[in-house]
Amino acid sequence: MVVRNCREVKVRELRFLGAWDGPSDFVELTLENPGWDGYRPGQFAMLRPSGWGLDLTWGRPLSISRADAESVTFFFQVVGRGTERMAALKAGDAIIIWGPLGNGFSAPPDTPTTLLAGGMGLAPFRGYIERHPTPEFLRLVFAHRPDLDCYPYAAMSEKVRAEEVRERTPDDLPVVIERIETAVRETANGLVLACGPTPFLKTVQQAARTHGVRAELSLESRMACGVGACLGCVCKDGGDKHVQVCARGPVFKADDVRL
Ligand SMILES: Cc1cc2nc3c(=O)[nH]c(=O)nc-3n(C[C@H](O)[C@H](O)[C@H](O)COP(=O)(O)OP(=O)(O)OC[C@H]3O[C@@H](n4cnc5c(N)ncnc54)[C@H](O)[C@@H]3O)c2cc1C
Ligand code: FES
Repeated sequence: MVVRNCREVKVRELRFLGAWDGPSDFVELTLENPGWDGYRPGQFAMLRPSGWGLDLTWGRPLSISRADAESVTFFFQVVGRGTERMAALKAGDAIIIWGPLGNGFSAPPDTPTTLLAGGMGLAPFRGYIERHPTPEFLRLVFAHRPDLDCYPYAAMSEKVRAEEVRERTPDDLPVVIERIETAVRETANGLVLACGPTPFLKTVQQAARTHGVRAELSLESRMACGVGACLGCVCKDGGDKHVQVCARGPVFKADDVRL
């Protein structure tokens, strides 16, 4: 398999934002930019530290959170072997990255747009807000369980109208769902963009259908190649057809995907 846009770059900085639920760290990883400043927010990259050897075969997909001329930044939560080992990287370590991959979110300049983020689904919206031509049209609603400090929320909430809702215990879930549904309903004639775990996306999808609101959903399927070659990431489109999330997504119109 030949992967285009694959480069080895160096880690510039790795910063721990916080920990939650024991060892589950939240990490900001900044790499040398391999020339991706023209990326589209919502696109992602596959990352595979060069030191992994034959241990872990595949890279791991992460949303590009932001990029400037010098660097590209990712946020991730440690959930398993790959992210645990990525969290042990040091400045100067080599990492192979391929991307930018996938399609990215729409960014109409004159449309009220609500960004709905669940947990690490916040990551792609950092660059989205920074690059949007008219951020005064944006509203961010962030649903999370861990402390707010675990996320880059503070920097984002300075730039746009933002609100957060926390699920501290399962009893809070109805409140969270209600806030998501209300945010969708209030975006009539606008656009909703959502990124987060599948149950979160299902709530957004259902609310968008109920209220006839245009929505785009970014899916976090498990991936291996990231470039449409292994069929490891397929989901069903609005009909019965299988589509690769990495090549056709990860962002789909809400009616074009079955969750
Ligand atoms: C397009 C895309 C963008 C993503 N962006 C981010 C991001 O910005 N920040 C971030 O923290 N994570 C993101 N993810 C999820 C991230 O890729 C996984 O958390 C990571 O691959 C897990 O690797 P691991 O080896 O640590 O875990 P594994 O050992 O492979 O798995 C550990 C646990 O994590 C679960 N898991 C594995 N892959 C995923 C996945 N894709 N989604 C949800 N759960 C998963 C497994 O079911 C298992 O319970 C993204 C995924 C996709 C497809
Ligand atoms: S991850 Fe291989 S086809 Fe999508």
